[in-house]
Amino acid sequence: MLIATLVLLTKTTTTTKCVSPCVQASSGICVNIVIDINNCGKLNNVCRSNFTSWSAGLCSNLTSIKLINGTCIWSASVNGFIDDQSFTVAVPFNITLYNTTTKSVSLTTNGVICLSSCSTAFTETALPASAFSGATALPFWNDLYISANTSQGIYYDTQGIAPNRTLIFEYYSSHYQQPTDYCNFQIILHENVPGVVQFICYEATDGGVSATIVVQGSSSGPFIQYSFDQANSVAQNMVLTFDTNTGTYSSASIG
Ligand SMILES: *[C@@H]1O[C@H](CO)[C@@H](O)[C@H](O)[C@H]1NC(C)=O
Ligand SMILES: *[C@@H]1O[C@H](CO)[C@@H](O)[C@H](O)[C@H]1NC(C)=O
Ligand SMILES: *[C@@H]1O[C@H](CO)[C@@H](O)[C@H](O)[C@H]1NC(C)=O
Ligand SMILES: *[C@@H]1O[C@H](CO)[C@@H](O)[C@H](O)[C@H]1NC(C)=O
Ligand SMILES: *[C@@H]1O[C@H](CO)[C@@H](O)[C@H](O)[C@H]1NC(C)=O
Ligand SMILES: *[C@@H]1O[C@H](CO)[C@@H](O)[C@H](O)[C@H]1NC(C)=O
Ligand SMILES: *[C@@H]1O[C@H](CO)[C@@H](O)[C@H](O)[C@H]1NC(C)=O
Repeated sequence: MLIATLVLLTKTTTTTKCVSPCVQASSGICVNIVIDINNCGKLNNVCRSNFTSWSAGLCSNLTSIKLINGTCIWSASVNGFIDDQSFTVAVPFNITLYNTTTKSVSLTTNGVICLSSCSTAFTETALPASAFSGATALPFWNDLYISANTSQGIYYDTQGIAPNRTLIFEYYSSHYQQPTDYCNFQIILHENVPGVVQFICYEATDGGVSATIVVQGSSSGPFIQYSFDQANSVAQNMVLTFDTNTGTYSSASIG
């Protein structure tokens, strides 16, 4: 019995594995040390409470990723610099915008999420944007990149219980080669509200003057435009809700 128990215990510990940038805390949970200021860089290495984040090896006042247990798509602290790339993510439930329903989306580093084919185009055009042929959410279309040696990155998470789950993507990135000119925003899709997408903009240091914020159905429309390179269009903690069923959006604020 004792031997059997020991074998079982050994097996349990060796099969528990946290995927970088997460490491396993003594409680067994996986902690993302890159974005958790309570474990900045290594477990129990806590930033003083008057700092807001952990960046490039230092406690910092810059913004931080809001998702606590997000899955890392790209993390500057681990993966370094990235520009003009697209990632395909398999999502756990059907998401719908306009006439497209899918469980696979593409995210570009230029602040765009596509439900079918995608483009890493970084130069904004008038709408509808011909670069995006299918249903596309553009929460902050801009010439963005992720700067090395920062806490920037792209994460996602699923929260809640079926059939009322929420899928959240989060970007913290900056203008090309301007790491301190940054934006931090989320894209939220609800399992029980097909056709609707929400954008939360926590911070955009340029106020949206170089970003296009829109949802479009195809390269020839229809589209719902919030802004196109409009100064001061983006306020902190702004929530935009786009309904592709009705072709309308509404705006609100959190916090
Ligand atoms: C931050 O906290 C430390 C220690 O608690 C304190 O010495 C320092 O003055 C604080 N800085 C600010 C700007 O509040
Ligand atoms: C950021 O940190 C510096 C000191 O490192 C401090 O002077 C400043 O007040 C802090 N700002 C905020 C918003 O915490
Ligand atoms: C993060 O995950 C851990 C372990 O699964 C869980 O205990 C904790 O409540 C989660 N935190 C949040 C904010 O979801
Ligand atoms: C997801 O969407 C596909 C394609 O429209 C559909 O065949 C499938 O039944 C949907 N699944 C659920 C659970 O709604
Ligand atoms: C940034 O990080 C890389 C390794 O990821 C390092 O080689 C480089 O020196 C760092 N640059 C700065 C300015 O800290
Ligand atoms: C899902 O949401 C609906 C509507 O709010 C509610 O009636 C239902 O109980 C929820 N289901 C679960 C599993 O939470
Ligand atoms: C969605 O389908 C309807 C009916 O087939 C069509 O009229 C509409 O143009 C389609 N919308 C898009 C964005 O493809």
